[in-house]
Amino acid sequence: MNINNLKDKIGQTVTLGAWIANKRSSGKIAFFQLRYGAGFVQAVALKETLGEEKYQELRHLTQETSIKVTGVVKENERELTGVELEISEFEVISIATDYPITPKEHGVEFLADNRHLWIRSKKQHAILTIRNQIIKSTYDFYEKEGFLKLDPPILTSSAPEGTTELFHTQYFDEEAYLSQSGQLYMEACAMSFGKVYSFGPTFRAEKSKTRRHLIEFWMIEPEMAFCNHAESLEVQERYVNYLINDVLAKNETELKILDRDIEALKAATGEFPRIKYKDAISLLKENGFDDIEYGDDFGSPHETFIANSYNKPVFITHWPKNIKPFYMKEDPEEKGTVLCADLIAPEGYGEIIGGSQREDNYDILLNNIKEHSLNIEAYQWYLDLRKYGSVEHSGFGLGLERTVAWITGNGHVRETIPFPRLLNRLTP
Ligand code: 4AD
Ligand code: MG
Repeated sequence: MNINNLKDKIGQTVTLGAWIANKRSSGKIAFFQLRYGAGFVQAVALKETLGEEKYQELRHLTQETSIKVTGVVKENERELTGVELEISEFEVISIATDYPITPKEHGVEFLADNRHLWIRSKKQHAILTIRNQIIKSTYDFYEKEGFLKLDPPILTSSAPEGTTELFHTQYFDEEAYLSQSGQLYMEACAMSFGKVYSFGPTFRAEKSKTRRHLIEFWMIEPEMAFCNHAESLEVQERYVNYLINDVLAKNETELKILDRDIEALKAATGEFPRIKYKDAISLLKENGFDDIEYGDDFGSPHETFIANSYNKPVFITHWPKNIKPFYMKEDPEEKGTVLCADLIAPEGYGEIIGGSQREDNYDILLNNIKEHSLNIEAYQWYLDLRKYGSVEHSGFGLGLERTVAWITGNGHVRETIPFPRLLNRLTP
């Protein structure tokens, strides 16, 4: 019943459990778009084969009615899937009445209110299928590179990425936060297992209503002991290349459904340029951006401009120390900057990775914690990592939804996760 690829079944008779996504018919022949779980397929019904009564019953079934259909899989090169199903028998499971999402255009708010149904549509199905591939490719990549996957806690007492965007919650008598990043825990894991990564949900109470911000998003966070910043950039480059190549190889149908510019994706592979923050600022200033000074963070117009100057993801390195988190290591060669990089995706999809070499000196780290007015008690265990066999180490975090948005060519992160959590949206 569960068939993953109908192309493997050409010439065979199959039975599918499916829903009617769309249909058109005449007196003699009816065409259906069926969603059968793994994908969509065109099914053809002929009056001649089914007989008048059955044919009329089938052709009048409503959108999203569930059925079981039996038929022969035939080659059809005009279909994206390369096949179609010629229906010989069917059984109606449940009739759907007045399905709210019709083939006509709907407003985004309406679709978002109906997200539990919207995920059935062809485009959403394709995006979420690619999300699944990116997750699978992530596991494959880190397995091949010899990393161990470990899971940091979601309920935490520390705040790696600044204290303003925390979700507060009660942990019995104590105050707790939902995790913004598993990084600090992954640093502890790296001191035991060498190369580790986490992959889990993270939470940011960001009051940003942009196409790149979710309140709840998933992050992949590798952490590597005995690894400097330059070596970490190489891992990032290999990882992102691996993701693109895997999606290009395995999601041809979905990329076509999404009308993704394949050439742009292919062009984004290979070596990624590395530019310094200060040079990025100069580039912006030379091009008429008067709203940015050395020491400012980039807004999305800045990121988009820099990205458009290249056709590949770009690493922006050497950020000023005072606008980055407390755990980043200062560059001994360029004081006042830290050994970190943001990876900006091409085509205006924004920052997909933030990473750095971590401060490994106990005294400097303690001082950074004090300077950032963080609660030293809560970071005592983290400081321990610098007391017992401290080593050079680096890591990074890749935001899954932004990466899916870029690879699928979808402008808004709300369509890259089944049930997005956005500012002012907790339902469905
Ligand atoms: O740059 P960020 O904040 O870095 C960290 O959290 C580090 N602790 C990671 C590490 O070194 N282990 O976040 C990393 C990535 C961003 O580049 C972006 O892709 C994604 O997480 N991200 C978001 N994605 C969707 N919505 C948001 N609100 C996001 N905030 C960050
Ligand atoms: Mg960042």
